[in-house]
Amino acid sequence: MLARNLLRVSVVLILIGMAAGIGMGVAQDFRLAPAHAHLNLLGFVALFLAGLYYNAAPHAAATTVATIHAWIAVIGAIVFPIGIGVVAIKGEQFVVLPIVGSLIVFVGMALFAWIVFRNGLSKAEAQRA
Ligand code: HEM
Repeated sequence: MLARNLLRVSVVLILIGMAAGIGMGVAQDFRLAPAHAHLNLLGFVALFLAGLYYNAAPHAAATTVATIHAWIAVIGAIVFPIGIGVVAIKGEQFVVLPIVGSLIVFVGMALFAWIVFRNGLSKAEAQRA
């Protein structure tokens, strides 16, 4: 369930990120390029990889800390790129947004690192993966 939800959120976010990329190209206005890049990399690549990990390690996915990680990772993957985009368009006075977003992303990844170190893949799961 957790894996499936992460995979679903990640493919929705990559569609939004790609649409933003196409929009930048059409408008020939590339100010949102860093927001687009972070949405695609954090929102698609990182979430999709976490979804694949939880699919391969269901005992890790079943933990409360994994659910907490997934929520933090999704929120960070949305708040951080939005913050970057707002600063790019509206100016430095909104810098608190990407700062908070980056800290959310960092906490989420620290939790994920803890989960990976603690659970790894069991032998049977590693053979199946
Ligand atoms: C429909 C698909 C996509 C379109 C139309 C698109 C479009 C763009 C455009 C127009 C730029 C700005 C280029 C410039 O500043 O000269 C850009 C930058 C970038 N894109 Fe995409 N992109 C797409 C998919 C992706 C994906 C899937 C990723 C990563 C998973 C990605 C990562 C990046 C990165 C890292 C940059 C550089 C950002 C920067 O220079 O600040 N893009 N993209």
